[in-house]
Amino acid sequence: MQRILITGSNRGIGFELVRQYVGDGDVRLFATCRNPDEAQQLQELANLYASQLHVLQLDITDEDSIAAAAAAVAAKVDGLDLLINNAGIGGDDHARLMGQLTASEVGKVIATNAVSPLIVTQAFRTLMKRGSNPRVVMISSGMGSLQRIAGRSYAYRMSKAAMNMAARVLAFDEAMAGVTTATVNPGWVQTDMGGPKAVLTPEESASALRALFKRLTPADNGKFFQYDGSELPW
Ligand SMILES: NC(=O)c1ccc[n+]([C@@H]2O[C@H](COP(=O)([O-])OP(=O)(O)OC[C@H]3O[C@@H](n4cnc5c(N)ncnc54)[C@H](OP(=O)(O)O)[C@@H]3O)[C@@H](O)[C@H]2O)c1
Repeated sequence: MQRILITGSNRGIGFELVRQYVGDGDVRLFATCRNPDEAQQLQELANLYASQLHVLQLDITDEDSIAAAAAAVAAKVDGLDLLINNAGIGGDDHARLMGQLTASEVGKVIATNAVSPLIVTQAFRTLMKRGSNPRVVMISSGMGSLQRIAGRSYAYRMSKAAMNMAARVLAFDEAMAGVTTATVNPGWVQTDMGGPKAVLTPEESASALRALFKRLTPADNGKFFQYDGSELPW
């Protein structure tokens, strides 16, 4: 049985991953989100799949929330096999546009997208180390690549580049020995973040991502993947 935790699982790519994973049957899924009481679709799924799907409160920017979620998961399972750091934000124009940037908005995006997944990973490290073929996945972006640069979106690009570096360091850290850390671009996806013109549906992205996560092994530690499994330049 696979034991999986996903952040930001109330909508977008995170929700679609949950929807597809519960269909597998042989899974114990911790679907986390900031506001479980408002996560109607997720709660409906949890009612249908009560033995497999646990909805937990987890605001990735709140260390008390992270600690409480880690304790709640540890009370239910003795190991985690897959941690999907999916939650993220784009930031408003104060994080995007030269002339309108503010330190607080740029900092918020970097804290959410780069710092928080690292702190979440640290909180679940002990459980991950007891997992089977344990894998940490950072849902990053092609916009985090230093080789694929355009103007604008300063904070988002900076945050995903920093997330990528966190993943690289995790992959080489003795404290994470035995845990595979991979970085993944989910593609341009039709979600609130990706918008309606995006080229992939959430179903297409999540299904490709699941296939990729399934075949990750220690040989993939520290790599950056496109959703289809090809490797991306840093
Ligand atoms: N869509 C794309 O084209 C695309 C492309 C490349 C990379 N990505 C990456 O893919 C991931 C998912 O994106 P998406 O398209 O599914 O975006 P989305 O539809 O905007 O969903 C974002 C998710 O992250 C959650 N979130 C934000 N801040 C959080 C926090 N502090 N604590 C917990 N959850 C938080 C949101 O929860 P709330 O509902 O509470 O806000 C929501 O569940 C992100 O990391 C994004 O950067 C997306």
